[in-house]
Amino acid sequence: MIFLNIQRITKKYIMEVIIQPTREAAALLTAKIIAAEVRKNPSTVLGLATGATVEPVYSNLIEMHHKEGLDFSLCKSFNLDEYVGLSGDHPGSYRYFMNSHLFDHINIDKRNTHVPNGMASDIEAECLQYEEAIWGAGGISLQLVGIGMDGHIGFNEPMSSMQSRTRVKQLNPVTIRQNAGYFGGPDKMPRRAITMGVGTILDSERCLMLATGAAKAEILAEAVEGPFCARVTASALQWHRRAIVIVDEACASHLKNREYYDWSFNHEPHWAAFRN
Ligand code: PGA
Repeated sequence: MIFLNIQRITKKYIMEVIIQPTREAAALLTAKIIAAEVRKNPSTVLGLATGATVEPVYSNLIEMHHKEGLDFSLCKSFNLDEYVGLSGDHPGSYRYFMNSHLFDHINIDKRNTHVPNGMASDIEAECLQYEEAIWGAGGISLQLVGIGMDGHIGFNEPMSSMQSRTRVKQLNPVTIRQNAGYFGGPDKMPRRAITMGVGTILDSERCLMLATGAAKAEILAEAVEGPFCARVTASALQWHRRAIVIVDEACASHLKNREYYDWSFNHEPHWAAFRN
C-alpha cells in the first residue's frame, strides 16, 4: 500500500519542455491541454495569466467553446496578478484584459472568476483573502503562466522569495518598459501590483508555462536549464511537481537539451493525444 502511494507521488514529479514550430502551434497546444483538463474535470480550478503571449491561447479556447461546446460553466479561475490602483473597467487592468480576451466570450460564471482587487483599501487583507479563496476552492488544478523579460512569473520580480505568497510587489523597470505599451508610455504605468507568490504558484497541481519569440530565448533557457534561483523566479518551475514548458522554435534557440525534450514529447504515451 505504502509502495503504491510512493509510486503515485513520484510519478507526478516531472518537468517537461515541449518545442513547437510556431507561436500559433505553441498557443494551440497550450489551449488543448487546458481544454483537456476542463473536459476531464468540468469543475476544475484554473490559474490564468495575462499578456500578449497568452492572447492566442484564449482565442483558441473561445473557438473550442463555440465549435466544440467546450463547457466552462462549472469552472473557477484565479488570475495571477493585478495592478494596484486600477479598477476592473480600466483598459490596462488585468480584470479588463480577462473579460475582453476570454470571460466575455465563454460560458464561465463571472462570479467564479477571480482577479485580485487592485482598488482594495486594505491591500494586505485583499492578498490574504485571495490566498484563502484559492485554498477554499480546493487549490489550483492547472496554472497557466508566462515569463517576463526579467524572468518573472506572475509579478514575482527578481529576488522574490521562492516561498512567497500573494502580496504587493514593486515592479521592475524592465517590466515597466515591457508593459508600457498598454498604457501609452512608461510614465503612465502603475508602479506596483498584487501578485500570487512563487509559493502560491508552486502549490498548483500542474503548471503550464508558455513562452514565445526570440526576445525571451535567453531568459527562458536560464529559467529552464539554469540554476534554481530567486533572480529568475521562473526557475521555480524546476521545483514544481508537474511543470510543462511550451515554447516555439524562436524561443527555444538557447536550450541545450532540446534533443531530449523532442524525444520525450514524441515518445511519452501521455502526449500521444497531443501530437499531430
Ligand atoms: P507577455 O508577458 O506575454 O506580455 O510577454 C508575460 C509576462 O510578463 O509574464
